[in-house]
Amino acid sequence: MSVDSLKNYFEPLFEHLDKQLAENGEVAGFGPGFEEEVAKAYIALDGPYEREASVLCNKASVAEFEYETDLLNITKEEAATAASIAYSQFELKAFDDFISQFEYENFEDADLKRQLKFLSAIGTSALDDTDLKRYNEVLSEMSKIYGTAKVCSYYKQDCDLETEGFALEPELTAKFSKMENYEELKYLWKAWRDATGPKMRKLYMEYVELGNKAARST
Ligand SMILES: *[C@@H]1O[C@H](CO)[C@@H](O)[C@H](O)[C@H]1NC(C)=O
Repeated sequence: MSVDSLKNYFEPLFEHLDKQLAENGEVAGFGPGFEEEVAKAYIALDGPYEREASVLCNKASVAEFEYETDLLNITKEEAATAASIAYSQFELKAFDDFISQFEYENFEDADLKRQLKFLSAIGTSALDDTDLKRYNEVLSEMSKIYGTAKVCSYYKQDCDLETEGFALEPELTAKFSKMENYEELKYLWKAWRDATGPKMRKLYMEYVELGNKAARST
């Protein structure tokens, strides 16, 4: 994005700043202090970035929660993936159009510099649409495996998983945090890994691959 389109976007702000500078007897221009003011206005709490980011982030979190608490519902899974992708796409666009345009290393305001540094770390939002979709699917598949796997009790190892099995939440988490019987803990841990690990192996490799791809592209 060029300085011109930045200027168009912030025309009202520029007018305001120009007027202030003129009143103080200073010459208006697109100097470093000016760029800093633009960046500050862009990420301000009532600014354009925050307005959109907070809505999309909230939608993605709510959809994720809906899915995580109902892991077998395909509709919720798709909704969570879609909401996460929408948020990532916004982050990438904000980064390309604005955040990456600011030479914030030269800014005076330490808080602003820190905020822009964080906003520059867009992670997997840098992936293209196909990879981004796949990345979100992989994550949601792994959540499902993790969240729905069941294991039998140490005391009834041939139980009916469907009706008697322990899931990670709440039974296993509670047991792992409180139980002190070594043999029982070892059994449960192994049973849990056996029920999840082999199913996640390929997905996890894909997850790492896509994460690395994102890291290389930013
Ligand atoms: C999945 O969730 C949607 C939205 O809450 C709901 O309408 C639908 O009935 C659910 N489907 C199943 C199979 O539970």
